[in-house]
Amino acid sequence: MREQIENPDYKLNVLIELGKILVHEHRLDNVLMNMADFAREILSADRCSIFIHDAKRNELWTKIAHGVDEIRIPADKGIAGYAALSKDIQIVVDAYNDFRFNPEIDRVTGYFTKTVLAVPLLNSQDETIGVFQALNKKSGLFTNMDAELLLLISNNTSYALENALLYEKLRDTQTKIVDKLSSAAEFKDNETSAHTKRVGLYSALLAEGYGMRKRDIEIIKLASPMHDAGKIGISDDILKKPSKLDIQEFEDMKKHSLIGYELLYDDDSEILKAAAIIAKDHHEKYNGSGYPYGLESDEISIHGRIVAITDVFDALTSKRPYKEAWEFDKAIDFIKSNRGTHFDPILVDLFLRDIIKVKNIYNELKD
Ligand code: C2E
Ligand code: SIN
Ligand code: SIN
Ligand code: FE
Ligand code: FE
Repeated sequence: MREQIENPDYKLNVLIELGKILVHEHRLDNVLMNMADFAREILSADRCSIFIHDAKRNELWTKIAHGVDEIRIPADKGIAGYAALSKDIQIVVDAYNDFRFNPEIDRVTGYFTKTVLAVPLLNSQDETIGVFQALNKKSGLFTNMDAELLLLISNNTSYALENALLYEKLRDTQTKIVDKLSSAAEFKDNETSAHTKRVGLYSALLAEGYGMRKRDIEIIKLASPMHDAGKIGISDDILKKPSKLDIQEFEDMKKHSLIGYELLYDDDSEILKAAAIIAKDHHEKYNGSGYPYGLESDEISIHGRIVAITDVFDALTSKRPYKEAWEFDKAIDFIKSNRGTHFDPILVDLFLRDIIKVKNIYNELKD
């Protein structure tokens, strides 16, 4: 180990090994566990733990820790707390004679801490999102070189962690928003939540087929169920009319696109921005004969072109106050025969190419 560490290429090798961990593992827990194992080996430490900062409770908790279950500590106590607060490396050579040390944890775990190396995990805004800590070097004390290596590992850990935390937060809050807003329209329109879910899944399928990035697929999956949120501004007499709408009623109904846009648009939220654009564009048609603006081909957002297909397909295969549900094959034929007129031809081809997956969603989420 010593020889390796003195070799100037060693840091590069460490980075390469880290790269391999990140490439082969996508699940956060596995990434972190691999990082902790890797750090333990590189530093010849007895244990490593990765704490996450819980800002709400101002605590640090162990997401991953060798040898112990979850521990929660006040975010400003102990060596980890010092690292979190100071945003700086902490090296401890004799824990029980160090003012930073909080013996409470050893009391809980039955462990005997001697030496500690702790580095903060910082996000891209330089805020503390956690702490990476190594305990009890097997021989001797943690060195500055150890600290540098742990920093190197931690920078990569922060990156993986920040993405995962952002992603989790986005999922949690967005899923709630989606459910609330989608059900607002459902409530008025007698549509089921299976309808909005299916539109989300069909739309994600098309977005994936189209080659969108994973994050954009996720956004469209969350945003597309809100396409009809503007129906909360349309009167029940029209929405629940059991027969065909007259011309004036349909003119009123058309307003749901822009009502939805106004309702949903929010500059601070990617999901709500996407949802607003989808609400505005989902009744535009590829040949320019749709509403509200009669946009054509790629004047219509890709999100709008996708949901044009998935919404109509799902409306056709669902029962409505004014119509019975169509058979799967009949609805597919409708999509096919409106290729290039109502619908973007490329997206129709992708939809048909993935027809097996479409059918699976159709079967699994029946009303
Ligand atoms: P929706 O029920 O969610 O239908 C969405 C879109 O699916 C419709 O947009 C239309 O493009 C397509 N679609 C649905 N059912 C049929 C059908 O039986 N035949 C054909 N060819 N296409 C169909 P559209 O036309 O802009 O309608 C927007 C919304 O207006 C509908 O949303 C529905 O809430 C309402 N609506 C449309 N037509 C009628 C109607 O005759 N009676 C009533 N009560 N409501 C209607
Ligand atoms: C993200 O971009 O925050 C995560 C979504 C993904 O896995 O691409
Ligand atoms: C994001 O878009 O990255 C989060 C904000 C949001 O969509 O609410
Ligand atoms: Fe609509
Ligand atoms: Fe709909």
